[in-house]
Amino acid sequence: MASGLRAGGERETLKGANDAARAAELREQLHYHNHRYHVLDAPELADTEYDALFDELAALEARHPELATPDSPTQRVGAAPLEKFNTVTHDVAMLSLDKCTTITELADWVERCRGRLMEDEVVRFVCEPKIDGVAVALTYTHGRLTLAATRGDGQTGEDITANVRTIGAVPLVLNDDVHPVPPRVEVRGEIYMSAADFEAFNERARARGGKTLVNPRNGAAGSLRQLDPRLTAKRPLTMYCYSIGWIEGGDWQPKTHAEALQRLTHWGLRVNPRSEQAADVAACERYINALRDRRDALGYDIDGVVVKVDSLDQQRLLGALTRTLRWAIAYKYPAEEATTRLLGVEFQVGRTGAITPVARLDPVFVGGVTVSNATLHNMDEVGRLGIRVGDTVVVRRAGDVIPQVMAVVEGKRPRKATRVGLPATCPACGSAIEYAGDEAVARCSAGPAVCPAQRKEGLRHFASRLAMDIEGLGDKLVEQLVEHEHVSTAADLYRLDREVLVGLERMGEKSADNLLSALEASKTTTLSRFIYALGIREVGEATAANLAGHFGELSALVSASVEELEQVDDVGPVVAGHVHAYFASVHNRAVVDDLCELGVHWPALPTSASARPLAGQTWVLTGTLQSMSRQEAKERLAGLGAKVAGSVSKNTHQVVAGPRAGTKLEKAQRLDIAVMDESELLALLRAHGALD
Ligand code: IVH
Repeated sequence: MASGLRAGGERETLKGANDAARAAELREQLHYHNHRYHVLDAPELADTEYDALFDELAALEARHPELATPDSPTQRVGAAPLEKFNTVTHDVAMLSLDKCTTITELADWVERCRGRLMEDEVVRFVCEPKIDGVAVALTYTHGRLTLAATRGDGQTGEDITANVRTIGAVPLVLNDDVHPVPPRVEVRGEIYMSAADFEAFNERARARGGKTLVNPRNGAAGSLRQLDPRLTAKRPLTMYCYSIGWIEGGDWQPKTHAEALQRLTHWGLRVNPRSEQAADVAACERYINALRDRRDALGYDIDGVVVKVDSLDQQRLLGALTRTLRWAIAYKYPAEEATTRLLGVEFQVGRTGAITPVARLDPVFVGGVTVSNATLHNMDEVGRLGIRVGDTVVVRRAGDVIPQVMAVVEGKRPRKATRVGLPATCPACGSAIEYAGDEAVARCSAGPAVCPAQRKEGLRHFASRLAMDIEGLGDKLVEQLVEHEHVSTAADLYRLDREVLVGLERMGEKSADNLLSALEASKTTTLSRFIYALGIREVGEATAANLAGHFGELSALVSASVEELEQVDDVGPVVAGHVHAYFASVHNRAVVDDLCELGVHWPALPTSASARPLAGQTWVLTGTLQSMSRQEAKERLAGLGAKVAGSVSKNTHQVVAGPRAGTKLEKAQRLDIAVMDESELLALLRAHGALD
């Protein structure tokens, strides 16, 4: 009521005060939600709601530039470009770590630490993932980010404050609600790019024909090296903080590393939740092994574990050498990436005639094995990599994933490097090569009847573990059988006689008998395995199981129309077309008939609704099972009509978790999905007669 009566000038002042208050409120809300999103990974607002608050603040600041504080969230979009980075001298040197690669070496380091401390003193440790990113030091003055510097040579680094301010996970203002922030404090940590962000960034770059990043580490380093912070702002970077460099003023000093990490969390910094205290070497070893098992599921690249002495008094006593600290050590895992030379490119013909370029590499030790071949997928990929014979290439082998050529080190290209071209004809049978539709894949235009490479690959697939599971029928044997024309179709395998086998290279009487028994045993199978074994294009295990479940018997599948096939779960027009075309071939039909006549059979599958009580449900198996293999559990569940998927989503009905269940179980709990253990699974299978 009063404001309407005031003079105009007074109204302006009041409005100005309101705007200032609103701007402060918006800043605080945005800081809060930024922390929820980037640090806690638990947003409370939808992106659009956040954007609305942000836009409101930006509009206020545009109207009243004096309201824009340096720590305003609007300042994260990137300041004006710099001429060069200024040099920063570190008050406390950023040293590096000694490395070890075995538990014995780790135990030796622990002994050396003990030897330098008082006898009988208890030494405890903290283990942390060693992230493969870029080390930085953040200085907060009165709680505000005033400097971000790279490690540089350890003594002097570069001032990258403008770039670091664009990173959402780095608070511009620390939170002192729970614990006061010292007047000046330096926090250290690693800036990195997550695997998902790296993939997404490269996907977008490829889509617009831009330059892709070689790996997440280079992505992070390159992004921080931009002189134009607006470019850095477009790169998806984040940060984990792992120590306090120094504290100036205030009356708090941490007693342990674990306490320091906890304090960093309270101040709103992002700390790796996988940092753990460990009482002794054995506990460190357990941590190292457990993290190694999860390495590929972490969502970011690590190259090992950092083991640190927990007590800061002990850290001070242990001190440092010129370049390295004595109180911490890096336990390194085998590198997942290495560089080597591309010696040549060969073209392999697959089961379905697809012609795949394969890189022949100068053998290199990567991901724990020696790699001398890596797939190049198709000619589009060869073009994208811009790879030439003679190039130095980056090879990656992570976990059980097949080795990949990630990038070319262009600076090391020799002058006589030669381009890679697709051969004019199929390297195995000399037939023409064709491209179907808009596929990137080149194919041999002949079928397995003409092309021996396709025959061999088809037989290997037929015999493989998840198909007919014919033990002892390895690659070398298939090679000989096809080369000597003893076998041309899968049915011929069941016609092999002992004499022929005994006459083969490296085949004794005993192994011939073993192979014959394995062939005999493989005749009893399931419809789903049989369909998978046929090697129909794009029919993997899951699709084969769906087809078997839907049709119940082979004759129904063989005579199904494309429209009928499209009714099957996860079968679209393309797969339906492949299945239909497969059974339309007289040759294929003859092979299938032969196989059945030679004794391949399977128990009839129940198809009525009552016998398929789990129809329409998606199940996920995780962890290890004691009484049966996962594959077996999967087949039994599929027999009851369930679809068994590899990952948990909101569409999952039920998760079965055995011991050592990992992230799938965590996700199921987060999404509130029913979880049962092995004994409950067994009870369910038994109740439905799916357990013999
Ligand atoms: S402690 C002053 N903890 O590994 C050295 N380092 O040589 C103390 N790194 O480039 C570092 N994760 O940036 C520490 N949890 C972690 C780490 C970590 C990655 C990096 C660090 C440095 C190298 C150590």
